[in-house]
Amino acid sequence: MTKIAIIGYGKMGRTIEQIALQNSIKISHIIDSYKDLEDAVFQGDEIAIEFTQPEHCINNIKLLSEKKINTVCGTTGWYDKLEHLKKIIANSRIAFLYASNFSIGVNIFWNTIENISKTMNKIEDYDVMGHELHHKHKKDSPSGTAIHTGEILLKNIVRKKKLLTETLANREILPEELHFTSTRIGSTIGKHTVVFDSIYDTIEISHNSKSRECYAIGAIKAAKWLVNKSGFFNFQKYTGEIGNVQF
Ligand SMILES: NC(=O)c1ccc[n+]([C@@H]2O[C@H](COP(=O)([O-])OP(=O)(O)OC[C@H]3O[C@@H](n4cnc5c(N)ncnc54)[C@H](O)[C@@H]3O)[C@@H](O)[C@H]2O)c1
Repeated sequence: MTKIAIIGYGKMGRTIEQIALQNSIKISHIIDSYKDLEDAVFQGDEIAIEFTQPEHCINNIKLLSEKKINTVCGTTGWYDKLEHLKKIIANSRIAFLYASNFSIGVNIFWNTIENISKTMNKIEDYDVMGHELHHKHKKDSPSGTAIHTGEILLKNIVRKKKLLTETLANREILPEELHFTSTRIGSTIGKHTVVFDSIYDTIEISHNSKSRECYAIGAIKAAKWLVNKSGFFNFQKYTGEIGNVQF
């Protein structure tokens, strides 16, 4: 049976612990510092789930790869080091999976946007925009999920070349600009919407989060999916398989 090593015992680490305990999944380690990670002795049947901080995450993963521990990484903000990390993983031959959002629903939403935007690339009658809504305490704006959604749209719809996240200060939007706006209110967990608009109709695709536990559930399912694998994986590509993993 897979055991989980929790690396980073903050908000996400604690939620992962709670979901694991509720589902009788064994936790072998709870580690909250680089020193404790250095000292840790792992058994072969453990998968690490790493939710720490971007400035520590690469060193943590390097250490986990030296210790030959397959790793799921939820820490965000290190993606400029992606190519560097790919080399580390290839040399160690462990399995590594990351996601900027571990919600299974958000990854289904992204795959839906990926598909529809390829169609919309061919139909110039449709314009496109995005919007995200989050609680009033969120510090980053736009959300990482909004940026990734915008990147999917820009990648597939060639007439859109630039993400515009600011207000339009007294000017018309340019045809090549993709407007993706943000609003903050109350305790809304997170809602992302993409709208396609023609003179005949409007298509709206939304994902609305109901609970933060979805990230922990996605990360644990990804950990179980990673057993006996080797290589570098991104959650979005394997959403169907990972989403179907049972506890
Ligand atoms: N991918 C997703 O779905 C998703 C969801 C939520 C949060 N996040 C990201 O996950 C990360 C953690 O989020 P959080 O809300 O739990 O943060 P947090 O600040 O509550 O917790 C981070 C924890 O990591 C610990 N830590 C720092 N350096 C460490 C190290 N070298 N080794 C082990 N532990 C170390 C800290 O002591 C702290 O307890 C952030 O980057 C956040 O953006 C991602």
